[in-house]
Amino acid sequence: MAEPIRLLLNGALVTVDDVAPQTTLLAWLRECRRLTGTKEGCAEGDCGACTVVVARRDGARLAWRPLNACIALLPSLDGTAVFTVESLRAADGTLHPVQQAMVDCHGSQCGFCTPGFVMSLFALYKQAGAATREDVDVALAGNLCRCTGYRPILDAAQRMRELPAPDGWRGPGRARDGSPPAAADEERLAQQLAALARPDGLDYAAAGQRWIAPASEEALAAACAAHPEAQVVAGATDVALWVTKQHRDLGTLIATTAAADLARIGRGPEGLAIGAGASLADAFAALDETFPELREAWFRFASVPIRTAGTLGGNVANGSPIGDSMPALIALAAQVVLRHGATTRALALEDFHVGYRRTARAPGEILARIVVPPRPPGLLLRAWKVGKRYDQDISSVFACFALRVEDGRIAHARIGCGGVAPVPARARRTEEALAGRPWSEATLAQAAGVLEREFAPIDDMRASAGYRRRVLGNLLRRLWLDAGASPRVATRVGDLAATGEAR
Ligand SMILES: Cc1cc2nc3c(=O)[nH]c(=O)nc-3n(C[C@H](O)[C@H](O)[C@H](O)COP(=O)(O)OP(=O)(O)OC[C@H]3O[C@@H](n4cnc5c(N)ncnc54)[C@H](O)[C@@H]3O)c2cc1C
Ligand code: FES
Ligand code: FES
Repeated sequence: MAEPIRLLLNGALVTVDDVAPQTTLLAWLRECRRLTGTKEGCAEGDCGACTVVVARRDGARLAWRPLNACIALLPSLDGTAVFTVESLRAADGTLHPVQQAMVDCHGSQCGFCTPGFVMSLFALYKQAGAATREDVDVALAGNLCRCTGYRPILDAAQRMRELPAPDGWRGPGRARDGSPPAAADEERLAQQLAALARPDGLDYAAAGQRWIAPASEEALAAACAAHPEAQVVAGATDVALWVTKQHRDLGTLIATTAAADLARIGRGPEGLAIGAGASLADAFAALDETFPELREAWFRFASVPIRTAGTLGGNVANGSPIGDSMPALIALAAQVVLRHGATTRALALEDFHVGYRRTARAPGEILARIVVPPRPPGLLLRAWKVGKRYDQDISSVFACFALRVEDGRIAHARIGCGGVAPVPARARRTEEALAGRPWSEATLAQAAGVLEREFAPIDDMRASAGYRRRVLGNLLRRLWLDAGASPRVATRVGDLAATGEAR
């Protein structure tokens, strides 16, 4: 039976039963709720003008996360608390410290980007602890400002902590009248959210479309097997653009987001098993524990709102040739586990992508998890993303090199590449050119020539084919320059931190 969506909006319970499931949160806020403080800039998750903050229960605590409302589909907010910029100012007009700091530091000119910056800073403010300059850079990497310039906004991010903390924070507005401290407000919010939990998931329908959000991996697999024609959706950071940019009617949507067990990350003898529903942020944090050399590549993957909404499974299943996780996962010899009803099968990741945005996933099958084998001893690992901008840019080329050097020879090599073929690709010919050869500049220079010829990339707006080939070869030359004649290969993750190689 169809049920309404229930969420807390700026502290008040709202139920929705008449809005098409593929409506974005931004469209709903602005057009149905008349909350026009949240702006539309790009409508594709790139500029941050639409940022709102979402609180969810995370065990005993609340997790506060920034979200790009322009690419969040409304039913995915069921059971959450959404806060827009309108909620920050107190009823008596007192500004929240984040807003006051922006005023004090002259952080706004035309003001179009300002609500988005304020909400990204508010999310940072709600996360415990003092923010370093690096934390602020990371938090704001997804917000663009065309006129103020970033310096005053960065100053505001430092200043917000110096201003008096709110006495209490009670949804829309806050009081300075001796009301309960923020901790009590949060407890109340957590209780309200607990009351909205749906042990059986959500089945919502309106305007001829349906949103099914099963509450477990098993129920999700059953729903997909029963509706093989339905569009699977996870964080929607790819799928929502089919709505906002291509105006597609997605029909029945089956969401993975309510299946908590699909987001589980576990370690066992077979390695690290990352549930397809794990957010990119959680998946990268888990990978970072074993493969810290990949950290910079993960920092350069989109922005915080995209990394917390988007999933690793979505990146892999979407199969974009410029998707960033796959070259690294291919180099790490990852497998994907697919599930149809109760039946599962495993596949090497490099065999999963069979053509431009085509995968080996059968109708009705879901991607259940990605399994990364344990770190082999003596692994030399590097990954580099090359794009036009450092932050929030799509790769022109991505390469990941995983080598084992034993007694001065390359015992084993696996190379994953992105942006150079119709699919995320393994560079097998180059691997062969490396295996068994001495670890030397000459070997890598010769293999770089093979790598430059291994793929036939295309010219597009991001880079020419010739540039892509040259960059790919140069990244292998860079491996030599970076690792040196005696590569300090780690046998344990701690070794990397000790040698300063983890960055
Ligand atoms: C502003 C912006 C910046 C971005 N930057 C980057 C970047 O730097 N690098 C990069 O690689 N990507 C980037 N992306 C792309 C996107 O964020 C990722 O691909 C993300 O991982 C997709 O995950 P999702 O959960 O949002 O997937 P969705 O959009 O929900 O789904 C994507 C596809 O995967 C399928 N799918 C999802 N989960 C499953 C499952 N369990 N089983 C079967 N099919 C499934 C869906 O049907 C759909 O076809 C960016 C996107 C935006 C909007
Ligand atoms: S409108 Fe640009 S990120 Fe949403
Ligand atoms: S103040 Fe004008 S875009 Fe930022």
